[in-house]
Amino acid sequence: MKLGMFLYAGPSRKLPRNVSICGIMTWQCTLGTINEDQVMHELPVHKCHRLLAPRIAYLIGTTDGGIPNVAPFSNVTQVSADPQIVAAAINRESTTFKNIAKVGRFVLSVPRAEHADIVWRLGEKFSGFRPPEGISKIDASGGEFHLDLSGYGPVLKGVTGWFECEVISEVSTNDADHALFLARVTGGQYNPEFLNSDGTYRKNSMPLMQLVLNSFSTTNESWLMDWLGPDHP
Ligand SMILES: Cc1cc2nc3c(=O)[nH]c(=O)nc-3n(C[C@H](O)[C@H](O)[C@H](O)COP(=O)(O)O)c2cc1C
Repeated sequence: MKLGMFLYAGPSRKLPRNVSICGIMTWQCTLGTINEDQVMHELPVHKCHRLLAPRIAYLIGTTDGGIPNVAPFSNVTQVSADPQIVAAAINRESTTFKNIAKVGRFVLSVPRAEHADIVWRLGEKFSGFRPPEGISKIDASGGEFHLDLSGYGPVLKGVTGWFECEVISEVSTNDADHALFLARVTGGQYNPEFLNSDGTYRKNSMPLMQLVLNSFSTTNESWLMDWLGPDHP
């Protein structure tokens, strides 16, 4: 039986509650030893996506027939740098799916940890938020929105930045509850409080990251690597 070095993850006494290190809430790392043969436990297939945590919560704004809508989506990634193409997996039952499928465009913005309550309400079908009778989800969310910054949909005020996307392809499989939209980025704006003009960071924007269900996190540490090659997008 071999023993090796390991990082012990245990509850932190030094950190205040809900402060995150390495995406694990209120835990700290300490050097120790572990049995290399440690057994892993089986994770049910329908829970495996939870290993993708933490996932950054983005907001997708759409408009159909003059009716604006905003909802959080974390299954978003870049798939091409030149041209700039992103992919977003969106539940077919959502208003966002219906709007994008119909109008073929959306605006993606990047909220921050301080927007957590607003984002949670905007995710009503997931969080269970129920707007008061006769009040739209956006109005009941507590957020303030730019309604004419982008013609593609509303943008929450105070976000790190936003960009507009035009759908180029929809990937669907018959039995999947989500559809994947591939969309070309056509323009965007950044918040100079957090970003430089080339998209590098001036200071930590404290992105909002979902761990699982209603547990969220953000970054409290960032650093620059000692070196960076010249060939990067
Ligand atoms: C943090 C967070 C991330 C989410 N990510 C996704 C996602 O990637 N794809 C998706 O279909 N739904 C996702 N949801 C659920 C939608 O936001 C939710 O169904 C919402 O009510 C859809 O709103 P809509 O019907 O106005 O489009 C997420 C919810 C939260 C709170």
